[in-house]
Amino acid sequence: MSTALITGASRGLGAVAARRLAEQGWTVLAGCREPADLSLDPALDIRPIALDVTDDASVAAAVTEVERHTEALDVLVNNAGIAGAEREVAPADTTAEHLRPVLETNVLGPVRVTHALLPLLRRAEHPRLVMVSSSLGSLSDMDNGRWERYPYLAYPSSKAALNMIAVLYARTLPDVLVTIVNPGWTATGLNDFRGSQTPEEGTDAIVAAVLDTTGPSGRFLARDGVVGW
Ligand SMILES: NC(=O)c1ccc[n+]([C@@H]2O[C@H](COP(=O)([O-])OP(=O)(O)OC[C@H]3O[C@@H](n4cnc5c(N)ncnc54)[C@H](OP(=O)(O)O)[C@@H]3O)[C@@H](O)[C@H]2O)c1
Repeated sequence: MSTALITGASRGLGAVAARRLAEQGWTVLAGCREPADLSLDPALDIRPIALDVTDDASVAAAVTEVERHTEALDVLVNNAGIAGAEREVAPADTTAEHLRPVLETNVLGPVRVTHALLPLLRRAEHPRLVMVSSSLGSLSDMDNGRWERYPYLAYPSSKAALNMIAVLYARTLPDVLVTIVNPGWTATGLNDFRGSQTPEEGTDAIVAAVLDTTGPSGRFLARDGVVGW
């Protein structure tokens, strides 16, 4: 039996990925800020874990809780993310305070959680780390004009930073298979449900990365193939 922990599993892509993996027989530790609010299908092995990725104490308590459920974690999915309450502020008007919460959640969160759970992950036979990023964090996509309609600092810069962090994990953790995932534009709360993909489609690349045990490590993948850096 395999075990995955998914951060931000209360709703959106995290919740759908949790359900899909549990349907395939996985034990899913569903990290969420309000575990009591999670509505669970009793037929699936989804276990809520209180986890706020911006809070050291919450992450430490979550590790203790995870240890109660499993001796080894096969996969950690760093999925929790925010677009930022004031995401569409022109760069000239953007202050450090606009960026702070987005970087706290999307960049420092995955580092905090990865650092805390790495020992448990490394006890698994094929440890995997899945970073849920975005093609908005792709410098080449930004440079080739694909994202000219999204000229805002916070979210794209957070995902670009996450990509570099993930690549460096891939370089320095030879025993951990690291995959960076672009879900694609998906109708979830993150984008006011305007995405062109269903949440099911949006989780295809996440689920594929969780299931992959061969790699190579350090790829940036979407459901339709490789994403440019
Ligand atoms: N939707 C898209 O089009 C799209 C495209 C590319 C990448 N992504 C990425 O996919 C990931 C999931 O996004 P989504 O579309 O599923 O968004 P969503 O529906 O807004 O869900 C975001 C999830 O993150 C959780 N979260 C936020 N801050 C958290 C924190 N401090 N600690 C723990 N959990 C926290 C939320 O929990 P609460 O319920 O407690 O708020 C929620 O479960 C994000 O990393 C996002 O950047 C999404």
